[in-house]
Amino acid sequence: MMRHLQYGTPAKVFHWCIVALLAVQYPIGWLMPDIHRGMSPGAGMTFHISIGIAILVLTALRLVWRLAHPVAPESSLPAWQRLSSEVVHWLLYALVLATTISGWLFASFRGWPVSFFYLVPLPMLASDNAAAGRTIDGLHQAMEWALLVTIVVHVAAALAHIFIYRDRVMQRMLPG
Ligand code: HEM
Ligand code: HEM
Repeated sequence: MMRHLQYGTPAKVFHWCIVALLAVQYPIGWLMPDIHRGMSPGAGMTFHISIGIAILVLTALRLVWRLAHPVAPESSLPAWQRLSSEVVHWLLYALVLATTISGWLFASFRGWPVSFFYLVPLPMLASDNAAAGRTIDGLHQAMEWALLVTIVVHVAAALAHIFIYRDRVMQRMLPG
């Protein structure tokens, strides 16, 4: 399939919507009340789950769009940067999916009735299972940290292109 030379508007809108949602998702995750036995999800947790589901749905749509509209790395970059940027980008997709799906599994194993912003009840991915819940809790935390580290690498690379290489890589993801 032919690879486009630049990102189109849908790719940019998906990118920045997901960035904005992740920027509120982490603080909510850290600030919402800790989980203890027998509790049911409060407002903080319901918002965390709802925003997480929005991130999952947008990322799935974005991935489908991306697979249908391949974009080549900036051709002026050295080979190692073209390769490493693609590795980091696919890792970001994979880690966002792993974080959201492990979170959803966690809520399901706790037997929580979860809803999308109190509007739409969400299906359980699994039935009540305390032991599996503990395992998946560790997985959600590991994935959330792995994603954060990868985001730091990604943003550091973007900053390096702006301030050190002074090329047009950042422009590729900006409007216009
Ligand atoms: C990419 C999206 C997501 C990110 C970045 C994220 C991040 C976080 C963070 C930072 C915490 C706090 C855990 C800690 O103390 O270290 C957390 C906990 C939690 N998240 Fe998520 N989350 C995401 C998606 C989801 C989704 C989609 C669900 C459920 C449908 C979910 C369910 C939970 C639950 C149940 C907890 C509490 C368990 C615990 O304290 O470890 N998360 N998440
Ligand atoms: C302020 C923060 C961010 C900046 C400045 C930024 C910047 C960029 C830039 C310039 C590109 C294009 C790279 C290229 O042309 O090769 C890009 C692509 C990408 N970014 Fe970000 N980004 C940020 C945050 C994030 C976050 C939080 C995620 C997490 C999901 C993310 C995921 C991606 C992905 C997956 C691509 C590749 C798109 C594709 O090829 O399908 N970005 N970003």
